Amino acid sequence: MAKKSKELSTPLLSDYDVEAVQKKSSSPVPNKKAVGEVTDSAGGKVTTHSRNNSKSKSDQQGAEGLTNGKEGNDTNDDKQEKKKARLSFKSLALMLKPYFWPDKTASSAMLNRTLALLTWVCVVGAKLSSLSSPIILGRASTALSHQLYHDTAKYIVVYVAINFFGVLFKEGQRMLYLKVSQAAFVQLSEIVFKHLHSLSLDWHLNKKLGEVLRSMDRGIQACDTLMQYLFLWLIPAFIEAIAVCVIFALYFNYLPLGITMFVFVFVYIVYTIGITTWRKKFRKNITKTDNDWHDKCTDSLVNFETVKYFTAEDFEKKRFGEAVKKYQISNVQVKASMSFLNITQSFLMQGALGTCLILATIGIKKNSVCCVNNGCDEEDAQCCATLNESCGGMELGDFVAVLAFVLNLFQPLNYLGSVYNAVVMAVIDLRSLSELLAENPDVIDAPDAFKLPGRNMSNPDIGVEFDNVVFHYPSQPETKGLKGISFKMRRGTTTAIVGTTGAGKTTVSRLFFRLYDVTKGAVKVNGSDVRMVTQKSLRGSIGVVPQATTMFNDSIRANIMYGRHNASEEEVEKVVEAAQLSGFINSLPEGLETLVGDRGLKLSGGEKQRVAIARCLLKDPPFVILDEATSSLDTITENSVQEALDVLGSDRTCLVIAHRLGTIKNADNIIVLDNGLVLEEGTHDILLQLNGKYADMWNMQLHNTAGFSSRSNLLNFEEQNEI
Ligand SMILES: Nc1ncnc2c1ncn2[C@@H]1O[C@H](COP(=O)(O)OP(=O)(O)O)[C@@H](O)[C@H]1O
Ligand SMILES: [Mg+2]
Repeated sequence: MAKKSKELSTPLLSDYDVEAVQKKSSSPVPNKKAVGEVTDSAGGKVTTHSRNNSKSKSDQQGAEGLTNGKEGNDTNDDKQEKKKARLSFKSLALMLKPYFWPDKTASSAMLNRTLALLTWVCVVGAKLSSLSSPIILGRASTALSHQLYHDTAKYIVVYVAINFFGVLFKEGQRMLYLKVSQAAFVQLSEIVFKHLHSLSLDWHLNKKLGEVLRSMDRGIQACDTLMQYLFLWLIPAFIEAIAVCVIFALYFNYLPLGITMFVFVFVYIVYTIGITTWRKKFRKNITKTDNDWHDKCTDSLVNFETVKYFTAEDFEKKRFGEAVKKYQISNVQVKASMSFLNITQSFLMQGALGTCLILATIGIKKNSVCCVNNGCDEEDAQCCATLNESCGGMELGDFVAVLAFVLNLFQPLNYLGSVYNAVVMAVIDLRSLSELLAENPDVIDAPDAFKLPGRNMSNPDIGVEFDNVVFHYPSQPETKGLKGISFKMRRGTTTAIVGTTGAGKTTVSRLFFRLYDVTKGAVKVNGSDVRMVTQKSLRGSIGVVPQATTMFNDSIRANIMYGRHNASEEEVEKVVEAAQLSGFINSLPEGLETLVGDRGLKLSGGEKQRVAIARCLLKDPPFVILDEATSSLDTITENSVQEALDVLGSDRTCLVIAHRLGTIKNADNIIVLDNGLVLEEGTHDILLQLNGKYADMWNMQLHNTAGFSSRSNLLNFEEQNEI
């Protein structure tokens, strides 16, 4: 027994697991007790309560943490299982590679890989010692039975040494794996994080952030679970079981013993997995009923006043009592099925032990009969020992060895049920992570992509060219989107795009930035098709000030320096000045170090836009996109931001999307987009002379500034110009 409870402190049930899994389990009721199963020292499991946030170091709670979290996840099981997810070998290999062959992290790749290899050396070492120690113990017993005391003492020393090394290997493996898993965690998180950033804007616009984070978090955790439970524990345990069968058949030269052992182990495994799967419904039920009675209790007490109004105390008591009863019933079911599993597991194990020992006894008897037949006295062990070679069969020591082997082998198999559960859960979590990793980025660099050239070689005057661009979003019908637009932006000039809401103005800027690839035609920057240049160099050359800027929850300085992380103090001050931010920043007690709050909510719209302009100025790109950068601001703020925008736009090739035509009046070229096509193009004056759509919009805007004379005009203008 002492040996068994010791087994509980295997890596399986370490404190690390408790914390990791406790983090995962969430309770819908505040401070609600959570139900979990504890693997008791006999390898069985009993249901118990514990506070979710308790962090006891005991091994028992380790086991609880393990099953606890898994129970909590059970409610999501079905939903996840229903998802048609597949876990390909390729994605599994990608996810587990960092555990087997880690790359560089904080420590060098060489060190990480050596540690990973040493982990396996330790696993093999531990298994070899557990396979050889019964043999040595058997030899000691045989020597003793032959009254060879000197040999006995020798074997005892070897036996003790092997056991000690076994523990050394086991603990060594735990320590080494800790480092390996840390390195793998870092690497895997980075792989997933990088992958998420490589996915298309479309994917990011459609995703549910919570789901993605959960898949990422649980998936990475699942990789660790799979490594610990499957690769470092279950598979070696199976190999050990097979090795024991082989030893029984070959070393003891007794095939029936090997076959018997194999059959028992096989039945034991299949049986344990079967019963564990059958018990799942009880475990789900206990979680449900436990939540239910806590919910009823909370609800009833929260509605204390209402209960009084309707004198419904008895009703509440009855309802609560029923819920508690249901919980108790499922509690009994869990415990009873657990006892059933324990009893039958023990029956199988004792059956295996009994059968193997009987077979060993038969083997010993065979040997003894042979000795007598060869003229030895039945009591004379030494005489028999000299005959051993010719007589064969088993000796007394082999009986001891078989006993030790069977006990050794079944001991870890006690945890098979819990481990099986953990592995199944991990596989489900891995599937969602693998789905996430299987998402392909839509926009990728061409294999022979080159850096964006600094200037247009064939036509130095042209900075950007849209050449008959056709595009629609993946979720849009083909009749929508851009239907073949062409225009050129001369170097160092400002091109404005105007048009009604949904005309495709933002889409044009996204194609320019290559957040999407065009369906037909081409977008050329400095004479090169954007699909031929690296995304990094293209995007590095374009600054964007969007309509609504979001900020990192950091200081103003950090947000400005996002434009260029290595900018000097003087450069930051310069752009702050240029973006007309100095007055605002000087008025803040903490100046540039002021925190902007979540998404920059502590700043006003105008302040945020000026920070966005400042960071764009710091980036100092040759191309700038201003997508309705001032449209969410009031007119007075707009004017102050406009000045900053003018600084940003000067000497750069600038694409301005605006609906207040006054702000783009001086643009070098104005493009009127309508229904995915370029309707008109020219300077302000030319477009007014054309007396087309632009002129209409302009006239309407004049009315607007002069004060609309009729309400219908205003509505009409709003519709068209997205006020
Ligand atoms: N990611 C998207 N997926 C599908 N449709 C989109 C997406 N983004 C925009 N659209 C649609 O494409 C059309 C053009 O959008 P957009 O270029 O943003 O118009 P705007 O001219 O107002 O900037 C709109 O009808 C819009 O609903
Ligand atoms: Mg837009």
